Amino acid sequence: MSTTTQAKPQATSLGYKGMLIDGQSVDSASGARITVENPAKLQPIAEVPRGNAADVDRAVAAATKAYGEWRRMPPRERGKLLLKIAEALQARTEELARTIALETGNALRTQARGEANITADIYRYFGGLGSELKGETIPLGENVLSYTRREPLGVVGAVIPWNAPVMLAALKIAPALCAGNTMVMKAAEDAPLGVLLMAEICQQFLPPGVLNVLTGFGEECGGAIASHPGIRKLSFTGSTEVGKIIMRAAAERIVPVSLELGGKSPSIVYPDADEDWAVDGIIAAMRFTRQSQSCTAGSRLFLHEDIFDSFLAKLEKKATALKIGDPLDEATDIGTIINNKQFTKVCRYIDEGLKRPDAKLVFGGLPPKTGPLSEGYFTIPTVFADRSNDWRLAREEIFGPVLVAIRWSDEAEAIRMANDSHYGLAAYVWTHDIGRGLRAAHAIESGWVQVNQGLGQVPGMSYGGFKQSGIGREFSLEGMLDSFTQRKNVTVNLMV
Ligand code: NAI
Ligand code: MG
Repeated sequence: MSTTTQAKPQATSLGYKGMLIDGQSVDSASGARITVENPAKLQPIAEVPRGNAADVDRAVAAATKAYGEWRRMPPRERGKLLLKIAEALQARTEELARTIALETGNALRTQARGEANITADIYRYFGGLGSELKGETIPLGENVLSYTRREPLGVVGAVIPWNAPVMLAALKIAPALCAGNTMVMKAAEDAPLGVLLMAEICQQFLPPGVLNVLTGFGEECGGAIASHPGIRKLSFTGSTEVGKIIMRAAAERIVPVSLELGGKSPSIVYPDADEDWAVDGIIAAMRFTRQSQSCTAGSRLFLHEDIFDSFLAKLEKKATALKIGDPLDEATDIGTIINNKQFTKVCRYIDEGLKRPDAKLVFGGLPPKTGPLSEGYFTIPTVFADRSNDWRLAREEIFGPVLVAIRWSDEAEAIRMANDSHYGLAAYVWTHDIGRGLRAAHAIESGWVQVNQGLGQVPGMSYGGFKQSGIGREFSLEGMLDSFTQRKNVTVNLMV
């Protein structure tokens, strides 16, 4: 949880960390600060500036000034700087991972280390793509030269969430900068420390103003970015609700947007997959070890009726064996929910499931009220079984470890239920019959379908949502070209 205080850093383990504007670590213009808490112990760990519109102005001015030179730098030279950042980040992954675990509550061993490593990989991937910012030639005849250029957009405004903060920040910074844009980013108020640490490392290699990272609250600071006239492109990851606000702000100024929003992703298990590997896959897809605080969580489990009970019995055995505890403890599999607001929200959904007579609690339930797990925002993996796909728990993004298991018998009905959602981000299909698995993959309305695995994104995948899960792609070469460049056509009469 974040609270606001006026100035004066307290004696905490991380102390105070400034924002990055124009190459400098700075305080907010107002001097106001946000206290960042460790959600596993409910203790303050650091303060960061509470940026507002005045700070956004400063950052946009710095990014605008830096843009002229940065866009003219040959793309491969920009790429080389990203590669240096990748190596510097790689050397500090442990520090980065510990910071992420401390502020997000995500377990160090199962989550934060992986996030720190993939962050270095993201810079490495995009660092190699400078030469791919290619245009085309258009064959208009011998006397005409017509070609296109991929030009940057200008200052990109980015707003990111807290669930995988450093990775999600890198996914915007690396492609935007490679393509020649500069950036003003706002970190999430609940998890700014890892992002600021990464920004500090980036700044060792970048000209001042190319990357600016602010800390602050949603409407106050993020809203000021969304409506700033100096910003030429908006890139947002977070809730669908705020995504709509960003898109409206963009409409006012006809600014392109990329939105990576929520999900309620289906997992369809065929009767031949009633096996341990598929159970492990469901646990991974549900992101139980990130407390299911993931936009791609496979939170609707469609189980064939023949295996419904046996599969859930296996799932219970494995999911309840996961160790919940201090995110920094190497033995911990599952850490904590990010803040009190999200914790309360998750508990409310569980409570609703418990109260509903036609929903059966398979395992889990409300968090313990006493003992060590009551000292932080710990929740426990919970599964409800119900025949329907139409109750609130099966329709809304819970962003907590609450899985609904739904019975099916007819394949077409399973796919129809899977698609009966306003979201369409990820999906998972489980079967040995690859033809059947791929037919299902093609029929599902989601931006990303995995067959027989429940892993995270890898740089190079064009990742993004269908329907209200988002617009645009950012995780790949095509994502960089589509989201962070604009095409210009130049046509020359060669007869003059
Ligand atoms: P949120 O969408 O409010 O926050 C994400 C980011 O947007 C944060 O940096 C926040 O400061 C900023 N923001 C909030 N209001 C804004 C505004 N009016 N203008 C500009 N920026 C604004 O998400 P929140 O409240 O942390 O979580 C609520 C729900 O959103 C979760 O339960 C989950 O369902 C969903 N969510 C989805 C994520 C995803 O990866 N797709 C990530 C985080 C949350
Ligand atoms: Mg919010």
